[in-house]
Amino acid sequence: MRTGSGQAGDPPAAGQQAEPAISSPFAATWLVAWHSDLAAWLDRLGWLRTLSDWLTAVLGPVRERHQDNLALELLHGGRWVGHPLHPALSDLPIGLWTGVMVLDATDRDPAPRRGIDAAGMLSAAGILAAGATALTGLSDWTVSNDQDRRVGLFHGLLNTVALGLQGASLGTRMAGHRSTARALGAASLTVTAAAGYLGGHLVFTKGVMVSRVAWAIGPRRWTRALQEADLPDNSPAAVEAEGRQIMLYRHRGRLYAIDNICSHAGGLLSRGPVADLTVTCPLHGSRFALADGCVRRGPASQPQPVLPTRIRNGWIEVRGSQPAPRRRASGRTQP
Ligand code: FES
Repeated sequence: MRTGSGQAGDPPAAGQQAEPAISSPFAATWLVAWHSDLAAWLDRLGWLRTLSDWLTAVLGPVRERHQDNLALELLHGGRWVGHPLHPALSDLPIGLWTGVMVLDATDRDPAPRRGIDAAGMLSAAGILAAGATALTGLSDWTVSNDQDRRVGLFHGLLNTVALGLQGASLGTRMAGHRSTARALGAASLTVTAAAGYLGGHLVFTKGVMVSRVAWAIGPRRWTRALQEADLPDNSPAAVEAEGRQIMLYRHRGRLYAIDNICSHAGGLLSRGPVADLTVTCPLHGSRFALADGCVRRGPASQPQPVLPTRIRNGWIEVRGSQPAPRRRASGRTQP
């Protein structure tokens, strides 16, 4: 008779042979780990780090000099679009170059033709769109950090190779070498797909350009954040209430509370300067109005949530989301 709870981890009963444990085959482990291994491998490439540091040293000061330029902000998408532009634009070259492949695959005419045909038009339109996409990507890249910056650079390099291949494909197509053009076009789309995968990794795995305050809620009731005496005028303070990080600020006796995590990439706003009731993020310079959290300047495209405040018994209290309305117990009817 078998004894024990039957839960995993119970030792085998006396006299029983332990069944061999079924271990995951190597291939199965690799199948689920290769993407994180790939990002880590890219991050270790010495030449990629060197190139990333060099580009940062060149582009960083340029960006700082022009960070008030509205055209630069629009390249990020910014407050007017409400989203980053780069992911949306990147659909254009992918779609147009996929159209080239479809037209080539369905074209049964083997005769060499010089000039530009329908597939060539799509290829050229995709090249133009890729140029605009690259500009927005480069702009986003200058406000990324650490490993994201290096993976993003590799993503950009792959896209540059894809663009070169597509340009060569268009050139050979117009010269009448259609087989070569098709092969180059297919290679371009393959490299584009690899670059797109890395772009997906940056957005969906690393949360690059994803609002860092999208899930900011709470505290659900008035919660003590700081003693009133500990908040002098015109001096930001970082506090935490029920796990939510909040920046408090007082100006001429009026209190302001705003999420302390910058919606762009998580910079701590309480470490940035405040002027005219506008706080500047110390990481990439986004500016937010303290009164309503709206974006005064990008790269952030999403406003900072603001929290109501009150003073009770010498404490500054804050509250986040409103409590959910009470629901009546189901199954009962009111008389
Ligand atoms: S983290 Fe980039 S602007 Fe704040």
